Amino acid sequence: MKALVFRGPGAIEWVEKERPSIQRATDAIVRITKTTICGTDLHILRGDVPTVTDGRTLGHEGVGIVEEVGSDVRNFKAGDRVLISCITSCGRCTYCKRAMYAHCEDGGWILGNLIDGTQAEYVRIPYADTSLYPIPEGCDEEALVMLSDILPTGLEIGVINGEVHPGDVVAIVGAGPVGMATLLAAQLYSPAEIIMIDLDANRLEMAKKFGATKTVNGAEGNAVEQVMDLTGGKGVDVAIEAVGFPATFDICQQILKPGGRLANVGVHGKPVELRLEQLWLRNVKITTGLVSTSTTPMLIKTVQSGKINPQQLVTHRFPLDQILQAYEVFRHAAREKALKVILYND
Ligand SMILES: NC(=O)c1ccc[n+]([C@@H]2O[C@H](COP(=O)([O-])OP(=O)(O)OC[C@H]3O[C@@H](n4cnc5c(N)ncnc54)[C@H](O)[C@@H]3O)[C@@H](O)[C@H]2O)c1
Ligand SMILES: [Zn+2]
Ligand SMILES: [Zn+2]
Repeated sequence: MKALVFRGPGAIEWVEKERPSIQRATDAIVRITKTTICGTDLHILRGDVPTVTDGRTLGHEGVGIVEEVGSDVRNFKAGDRVLISCITSCGRCTYCKRAMYAHCEDGGWILGNLIDGTQAEYVRIPYADTSLYPIPEGCDEEALVMLSDILPTGLEIGVINGEVHPGDVVAIVGAGPVGMATLLAAQLYSPAEIIMIDLDANRLEMAKKFGATKTVNGAEGNAVEQVMDLTGGKGVDVAIEAVGFPATFDICQQILKPGGRLANVGVHGKPVELRLEQLWLRNVKITTGLVSTSTTPMLIKTVQSGKINPQQLVTHRFPLDQILQAYEVFRHAAREKALKVILYND
């Protein structure tokens, strides 16, 4: 089969590789029909994720058709259409029992990291019963690819951790795929305003189409001052950080009202300066987290009913064997006006 492999910082290759086979009775082999590229794959390419070694097949998102299952798999059989979670969970350890699958003692984020991932014709999924989800009849599969990672991330780590309530004023810093997924998920809770903040005018224009009520372009002036102006000097109830830089975390901690919540979603490579001397007296709560994808079954139902339409986030489509071209487009997302790219193999 063909697979996209990591060859060390800056290098990826589309190569012939042995098709994965069942290694444990709880495994399934899935033939990939649609996958995508994540911002995290770009972090890997830059060499920011040292656990990914030479030869690893990348990718942790996708949908496909079950090809084969191990003897202990109960919930799936060959021919079933499935959604792959970016998080592998054994379903039995203490963390899995608390629905903190991100911290599964024999799983977590391993796909396209510690084991071969989904940017290939076939993938081996450990603990298939608890790491795959059945695709309901007639459900849009491009939309479901957004449920492998970015939608649960926006919902669990942004919206639920940030406790978005009806009538709230919400600010989301970062209009990349994760920030946009957070924007879609936030609307399930009917906030009064959603202010989207980015430096890219095109992404802010797209955010308005996806439901942002106001936008702030940090390239056109101080983002904190602009948000304070837009809120009559009051600030916001919830600030969601979806970038991962000290500067964007700093925007979040300066725009919160008393009782506000700061939900950090971005992956940070450097420490941030915490303005604790100002935050304590505004009763601000800060949360962090790695997605568990525990909301995936609920999100599948909201996609099926049309309450949420994540297929809007797809801007480009390529056949799977043109994945190197797709990486080029995704790597130059601003120039290419790209959000999510779909690689199809059906
Ligand atoms: N917590 C989790 O479980 C989890 C899961 C998936 C992704 N992530 C992280 O979420 C973050 C966002 O992911 P993405 O794929 O959307 O990334 P992205 O790079 O596509 O998007 C980031 C956006 O931030 C904007 N930006 C950069 N600097 C800015 C500034 N100073 N002010 C305003 N906007 C600015 C960029 O223009 C871009 O649109 C990343 O750090 C990613 O690693 C976290
Ligand atoms: Zn991802
Ligand atoms: Zn577990």
